[in-house]
Parts: sequence; C-alpha cells; structure tokens
Amino acid sequence: MVHTTYPVHIQSVAHSRLSETDFSDIPFGKKFSDHMLVADFQDGKWGDIYIQPYAPVPMSLAFSGLHYGQSIFEGMKAYRTGEGNAVLFRPMDNFRRLNRSAQRLCMPEIPEALFMDGLKALIRLEKDWIPTSPGAALYIRPVYFATDEFLGVRASDTYRFAVLLCPVGPYYTEPVNILVMKKYVRAFEGGTGSAKAAGNYAASMLATREANQAGFHNVLWMDGKTRTLVEESGAMNVFFVIGDTVVTPRLRGTILEGVTRDSVLQLCRENGYKVEEGDVSVDELEKAFHNGELKDAFGTGTAATIAPIAKIQHEDLAMTLPPVQERKISNWLLQELNGIRTGEKADRFGWIVPVE
Ligand code: COI
Repeated sequence: MVHTTYPVHIQSVAHSRLSETDFSDIPFGKKFSDHMLVADFQDGKWGDIYIQPYAPVPMSLAFSGLHYGQSIFEGMKAYRTGEGNAVLFRPMDNFRRLNRSAQRLCMPEIPEALFMDGLKALIRLEKDWIPTSPGAALYIRPVYFATDEFLGVRASDTYRFAVLLCPVGPYYTEPVNILVMKKYVRAFEGGTGSAKAAGNYAASMLATREANQAGFHNVLWMDGKTRTLVEESGAMNVFFVIGDTVVTPRLRGTILEGVTRDSVLQLCRENGYKVEEGDVSVDELEKAFHNGELKDAFGTGTAATIAPIAKIQHEDLAMTLPPVQERKISNWLLQELNGIRTGEKADRFGWIVPVE
C-alpha cells in the first residue's frame, strides 16, 4: 500500500497484456492498459484509492447516473520524454475543470490529493504503456458518475470516480470535412455546454450521424440562440486564421474550456500572433473565404491535439481550406505542443508535471 492522504491499495495483474499489445495499431479508445483506478464517495466522504486490474465491475442497473445522466469525464494525456520519464500535460487544469463540471452537475468535489496522488500512482505503474511513436500518447480518461440505487430525481448521495488508460495514436488520421449544423444545437446559455458532461456528448450523436451520412466527419456547432455564431467543431474547440489573425469563439458558458484551446492561445500570444477571442459568425467565415483571407481552420482537443479542417460546408457553399502542408500556424502549433510534451522544447509555461 502507498501512504498518501488517501491510501492507495494496489492489486497488480497476474499477467500483463503489454507484450501482446501491438503498439503500431492503437486506434483511439479501444485498447486499455492493465490497471484502472477506482474510488468511491459515500457517507459524505471519499474512501481509499484502489488500483486494480482493468476488468468489468458488477453494478446495479438502478444506478442513478445511468438514468439521469449525473456523469462527467475528463480527457488528459501522459507522454514519455526523450530520457524515458513519464510526464503529464497540465493535469491541474483538467483537475480544476473536472470539479467545475462536478459543481454544475451537483456532484461533490474531488479532492486534489485523491486525483493527483491516485493518478500519479496509476501512471507510475503503467509507465510502459506510454507509446513513444510520433503523435501517440497514453490517453487518460477520468470518469465520475452517480451510484445511488434510487429512481427518484435528485442529486445522488453516492458516487464512483474511476480512471482508465488507453495507448492512442492520432484521433483523426486525415484532415476533417465539417458541416455547419443549424438543425440541432449542442448547448444553450445557462445549460451544461461548458461542463464535460456525458449528456452533452449524447446530445451530439444524432447531428454527428446525420453529418456522417451526408459525407462529413463532423459538424460545426452554432450557438443555440441565433444559430449564426460558431461554437465548437464536433467534440473539439475550433480556431480559424483570418488574414494574419488567429480567431476562436469566446467562452460564453456554452463552450468547453479546452486545455489545448488555452495552450494554443498562450503559444500564439507568446509568439506575437494577433489573437481574437470573440463572436465568430459563419457570415464572417464566408466573407473571409471569398476574399482569400481564410488561411487555416483547425480543431483542438486533448484527443485530437490539432486537427486540420479541410472543408467547411455551409448550405451550398463548400469552403475548401489551403492544403495542410501550406498552413503555417497549425503546423507550428502541433510542433510546439509535441516538442514541449516530449521535452524537446523548453516548458516555459510550466505545463509539464513529472510522474516519478
Ligand atoms: C478529448 O479531447 O479528450 C475529448 O474528450 C474529446 C472526445 C474524445 C470525447
């Protein structure tokens, strides 16, 4: 047992699956590492941390999280530096966002010691699962949900927090084509759009399926009120380069406060690019496209890092972006982020947290 504020009980696997895992074939979210972390909240407090073999767990079908969606998650990544050390990228930002989501979904706060000490103990144990090929990482999926066996509609009294790990390659293997979506919306002001709530993703599925059926990888979400302002692209934040300005929708409660989004803004500002967080309308994109000023468009997220957008379809207009190899800013951003994560570039923002 590891002694921290929350005791960590470790039950190791009898046989690791590591040697049977083909690291040249790690599609997103399909292969899980040997161990997972579990901690429960009951009687008004968090219990010990259990790190145990990754396996299905018995559960009640009356869990209120299943019925009423009191369920949130996070997405983070661990990397290996050139010297072979395991590092986390901005874990405190994910920790703080998890608790903002918890607050919005009326769930108890997760203590920092439980989150950070548990996470570090898990990553230390699973260090060899961190892939080292370019663009690959160990994806970390904290998930937190209600476990009361009760069908009344109220905030649960009991919860489970768990962390799963997946070695992953790039989320998108090609530049994405996206469809301006006006029929469905992802979020409204006063709703849960800025929380990483499971229900936000459930609400996006039908729009995504319809976009897929029309030949697009994903949708470009519009604001709920006017359906004219850009919010997100699929499950990513979205950026455009218009002329020489890097533009992204401002956070207005309906948009996820992406850690990669914030990293991109900090890198651009440090490098002296003009940056605007504001209202970005489809009209403005169309105007920039017709004037030849729409130079770049990309999604940002933990899973995708920087996902170049090849085409934005709005009604009959297909806005085709310049070839990816010609895009100065998004290519530079990807190199900067990957360089900082693997230790090749200086961590001047204090984003890297060693695990050992
Ligand atoms: C992430 O980028 O980590 C996400 O949460 C997006 C998606 C895989 C749900």
